[in-house]
Amino acid sequence: MTTAHAELQYSPLEPGVYIVGAGPGDPDLLTVKAQKILAQADVILFADSLVPRQVLKVARPDAEIVQTACKTLEDILPLMIQRVRSRQSVVRLHSGDPSLYSAIHEQIQALAAAAIPFEVIPGISAFQAAAAKLQVELTVPELVQTIILTRISGRTEVPAAEELASLAAHRASLCLYLSARHVEAAQAELLQHYPVDTPVAICFRVGWPDEKIWRVPLNQMAALTHEKRLVRTTLYLISPALAVKHQSAGLELKAARSRLYSPEHAHLFRPAQDVS
Ligand SMILES: C[S@@+](CC[C@H](N)C(=O)[O-])C[C@H]1O[C@@H](n2cnc3c(N)ncnc32)[C@H](O)[C@@H]1O
Repeated sequence: MTTAHAELQYSPLEPGVYIVGAGPGDPDLLTVKAQKILAQADVILFADSLVPRQVLKVARPDAEIVQTACKTLEDILPLMIQRVRSRQSVVRLHSGDPSLYSAIHEQIQALAAAAIPFEVIPGISAFQAAAAKLQVELTVPELVQTIILTRISGRTEVPAAEELASLAAHRASLCLYLSARHVEAAQAELLQHYPVDTPVAICFRVGWPDEKIWRVPLNQMAALTHEKRLVRTTLYLISPALAVKHQSAGLELKAARSRLYSPEHAHLFRPAQDVS
């Protein structure tokens, strides 16, 4: 199902399942490829609990739209397989990027077992959309160079080797998914290693019309979550990088600066400049 962009735009989609990352919710954050596929699909199954309907505005008026929040995999799979065997193109739309917390693993296994062709189209994950809204880089030189994407154990158990407290020991930029219902436990585990005043951005429905973002110190993460009654579609960014202030114009950019664009640093595409 690998198809060139030009062909995708003008020719009908091949029958098969297109597992598409919808991004965080803002339709403008769909990839071009996702938009092209959505605009042509015969059938669109979408996780209505996590993907706002506005993302479907590019769909064909006659496309069959199926909401999946109230369905099981046992409902969804036969539907997808039947439509593809009837020579239809099926989009399975997941929030953010399908490579994380999207339950595509079992769909892929089942589609492969049924010899149904499929393709995965990446999307912008919630952590990327949140960092963009916050106007921050999560990897600031000399401060933090690692990003951890994780969750706390809930109905899905996190393997013991990935306990939040052990990940917190790295004091990296930590993006915490699926954890609002267990925020007290999360905060307690994080506080085992991060300082109490580590900045946390609590990001609710980034890219949705009712998006809200709050910044608090780590020891207030749970209290704010309870006060705002956040239980779903909330991402926590815990990072020393959030404390970095924007520098005003004219300041020397010596601290916290990547060497990549430094005049003193030579690399394959640019000689070093003398700055003495
Ligand atoms: C089932 S996971 C899906 C994650 C998705 N695949 C991604 O890449 O963003 C749902 C969790 O992702 C986070 N999430 C997804 N979309 C979000 C958004 N628009 N704003 C804030 N958090 C979001 C929340 O932590 C939510 O509980």
